[in-house]
Amino acid sequence: MTIVVTGATGNFGRLAVEALLRRGVPAGQIVAVGRGVEKIQDLADRGVVVRKASYDDPESLRAAFAGADKLLFVSGSEVGQRVPQHLNVIAAAKDAGISKIAYTSAPHADTSSMILAGEHLATERALTESGIPSVFLRNGWYLENYDLKGALEHGLYGAAGEGKISIATRAELAEAAAAAVVADGIDQQVYELGGEGVTLGELAAEVSRQSGRDVTYTDLSPEKYTEFLVSVGLPEAFAAVLADSDKGASAGALYTGTEDLQKLLGRPVTPLADAVRAALA
Ligand SMILES: NC(=O)c1ccc[n+]([C@@H]2O[C@H](COP(=O)([O-])OP(=O)(O)OC[C@H]3O[C@@H](n4cnc5c(N)ncnc54)[C@H](OP(=O)(O)O)[C@@H]3O)[C@@H](O)[C@H]2O)c1
Repeated sequence: MTIVVTGATGNFGRLAVEALLRRGVPAGQIVAVGRGVEKIQDLADRGVVVRKASYDDPESLRAAFAGADKLLFVSGSEVGQRVPQHLNVIAAAKDAGISKIAYTSAPHADTSSMILAGEHLATERALTESGIPSVFLRNGWYLENYDLKGALEHGLYGAAGEGKISIATRAELAEAAAAAVVADGIDQQVYELGGEGVTLGELAAEVSRQSGRDVTYTDLSPEKYTEFLVSVGLPEAFAAVLADSDKGASAGALYTGTEDLQKLLGRPVTPLADAVRAALA
């Protein structure tokens, strides 16, 4: 049983490969795929099969997926280019005879008005049309999206208002993804994955409580938050997409309210306070 992991050169994919190894999947039955494969030489040293491929290059994907049974399809990071890229992945999976795909999607992809959800919904639809049995892992926001150490100095900024966000660590979401792809068959097609729901004000208060420093959350309009993100170095288009996600969050778009993460992990999700403590350490 060979499992391919795309995006394995990134943070999430690497964690998912490590979770597969911890679950006892033999290293030689894991194929770790990405462009910057020099970043995962350590995985190759542990026996993981490493193959270089680009979402923009169908031939490289076909070669990378050859002989594989299952695919953990980690969504790409090039916002705006992902629909054709993801269609290339799905076509290559079909050519390779992949029997199951677990895809990392976005919260409530089918009903969300967030700009970021559009490419994920298009991918989910293409997966369904492909006929390959697929699981949609609608990952909530990573705790790592928030610079908590930086917040000790500068506070937290956003445009999420009083919206609760079901924050989870990237590592636990990756562990859940490993569990989902390893499982036989498909118990549930859509997983809305997230941890405890907190407002960004509550997150700042937790950082304050643990650090003993006065850490506040400043809520901005989406326009002002875009300007803020540009002022700290983000490209304008991406800043606007992030501000749009916060605007969605203010209306509940990033609140999952399910026990799906716990279900896939087979244990309770790490309490947010503990995850914050680890992030501040
Ligand atoms: N839920 C959340 O809070 C959240 C936050 C950020 C991102 N995401 C989504 O979750 C995914 C995984 O997160 P992450 O933290 O691991 O992101 P990351 O560290 O930026 O990793 C992105 C991965 O995608 C690969 N990739 C991007 N474009 C590619 C292309 N054209 N061809 C082949 N591979 C490509 C990268 O590989 P190479 O560059 O080496 O090819 C890398 O392995 C992201 O890509 C994004 O879709 C979710």
